[in-house]
Amino acid sequence: MNILVINGSPKGRASNTYRLTQAFLEGIKQALSEDADGKGKEDVGRENVSGVHVEELMVNRMEIQPCLGCFSCWNKTPGKCCIEDGMEEVIQKLLWADVTIWSFPLYYYTVPGGLKNMIDRQLPMCLPFMAEREDHVGNGSHPARYDMSGKKNVVISTCGFYTAEGNYDGVRSLFDHMCGRNSYTTIFCGQGELFRVPEVAKRTDEYLAYVRSAGREFARGGISGSTGKALEELLYPKEVFESMADASWGIDKESGEKETDTLTFTRQMAALYRKESYEGKELVVEMFYTDLDECYQIVLGKEGSRVLKDGFKEATTRIETPVTVWKSIAAGEIRGDEALMRHLYKVKGDFSLMINWDKYFGSYGRSADEAEEIQRAEGGKDGNGKGTNMNIMLIPWIVFWVAVPINGYAGSLAGIGACVLVPLLFYQYKKTFYDILTGVLVTGLSVAVLVGAPERIVLSLSYFVFGVMWAVSCLRKIPLTACYSMNNYGGEDALRNPLFVKTNRILTLLWGILYLLTPIWTYFLMGTGIGGFTGAVNSVLPVFMGIFTVWFQKWYPAKVAGG
Ligand SMILES: Cc1cc2nc3c(=O)[nH]c(=O)nc-3n(C[C@H](O)[C@H](O)[C@H](O)COP(=O)(O)O)c2cc1C
Repeated sequence: MNILVINGSPKGRASNTYRLTQAFLEGIKQALSEDADGKGKEDVGRENVSGVHVEELMVNRMEIQPCLGCFSCWNKTPGKCCIEDGMEEVIQKLLWADVTIWSFPLYYYTVPGGLKNMIDRQLPMCLPFMAEREDHVGNGSHPARYDMSGKKNVVISTCGFYTAEGNYDGVRSLFDHMCGRNSYTTIFCGQGELFRVPEVAKRTDEYLAYVRSAGREFARGGISGSTGKALEELLYPKEVFESMADASWGIDKESGEKETDTLTFTRQMAALYRKESYEGKELVVEMFYTDLDECYQIVLGKEGSRVLKDGFKEATTRIETPVTVWKSIAAGEIRGDEALMRHLYKVKGDFSLMINWDKYFGSYGRSADEAEEIQRAEGGKDGNGKGTNMNIMLIPWIVFWVAVPINGYAGSLAGIGACVLVPLLFYQYKKTFYDILTGVLVTGLSVAVLVGAPERIVLSLSYFVFGVMWAVSCLRKIPLTACYSMNNYGGEDALRNPLFVKTNRILTLLWGILYLLTPIWTYFLMGTGIGGFTGAVNSVLPVFMGIFTVWFQKWYPAKVAGG
């Protein structure tokens, strides 16, 4: 397949639109490469993948002259323009290409001037005679000098307003006339300038993943409905984008004066506030940039956010950071939680705002891989939304501990029953290693009681085994409690947070120690008259431990964050 890319952006390769075009090309190459020899992504980037030949024309480098309107290409030298610049070569490439990708920014609701010159200079490709159009686009046309049937056109463009909708009527009209209505593929994207902002790369990368999917689908026949829909979605909601865009100029909206870079940066951060997260009380985030000695407050309210330069309010949470560190975090160069662990910045006041950062300053969008995976999957369904559930691991143990002291035989059967029934919940929850291990251990202990092992020993041993499971999990990369409490902290992403993992490691160890000690009094209790209540007695300490856990998981991260 011969593909010609015409990049009409005056910025050349630094163009926002060109990034979309590159992603689209990658998609085409992926599809053709996969279809040809079953190979995957690794082939992408080669110029010639499974018969894909790509030629690129950078309009900004070509100095194509405007048409002189002399019609000599029709009457004096049919098919040949009188101006000798690069246009002859452009026409040859248009004839060579099976697919032409027109890539350009929207300028004054149409194509940029340089590209318009190139389009005007295609006149030698037409014959001078008057003709009717079969598709009834406009009135009158000229027949093509060359056979262009079977050639495909793709139009990719970004624009600066929040949406492409309603802004591309000029472009559509031009390409309807040039290529024929509904005879070309389009990707029009608003908020184009965001493609050069590293702080919002998560969302723009997600969009680029959809463009890649579109390229793949185009190579296989046409862009699917679900991908087309994803491409039409706004990168950010209108008001979020517009306040980000307004802030990006670094000019005070009221005075028109230039602002400091740090204030501009703070305003852009404030623009990402999700007002749906408002819970009846204004929150105040104080940003103190330690290297510049500048301080601003972001007030998070019901109607949106605002930035204070003075007249400060009482801060809910104060972040003390060098601006360089915070910018690196915002650009995704370092993880915020990792920087916190390395004491690169400090947090004072209410730490829960930090824990729920994504809730307030939403990281809009999915990761590019996730987005692509969804588009690849038929129907675009995300089947991976299951969380874990600690009860699945705890229930068999609790049944065993409560029931066996009351009646060894019935209690053991109840323990085995729990191990058999609880896994039915896996249709709704994601299973963990500890859920499976629990099933094996509780079944083994129950069988031991059934075959006549002394209940007093088996029960004491069960607490010990349970304690070992917790304590040993501290030596693994992810400690036991983290596998479950991650559900409250953004899912598996929390497992990459070193502070979260460390907090859980400490808690898991403390719980492990509690259960390693429990066999001591269990053994003695089982020998007394209240042996049947051992399960109930052994629930008292965990209740206190549970209260401690709730407190510790807030207190410890806040202590580390405060430096
Ligand atoms: C001269 C000029 C005219 C523009 N006209 C429009 C316009 O009419 N509508 C719009 O939404 N954006 C307009 N923009 C914004 C660009 O379309 C937008 O910044 C685009 O993402 C730039 O893409 P590029 O990096 O590929 O050149 C204009 C920009 C310039 C410089």
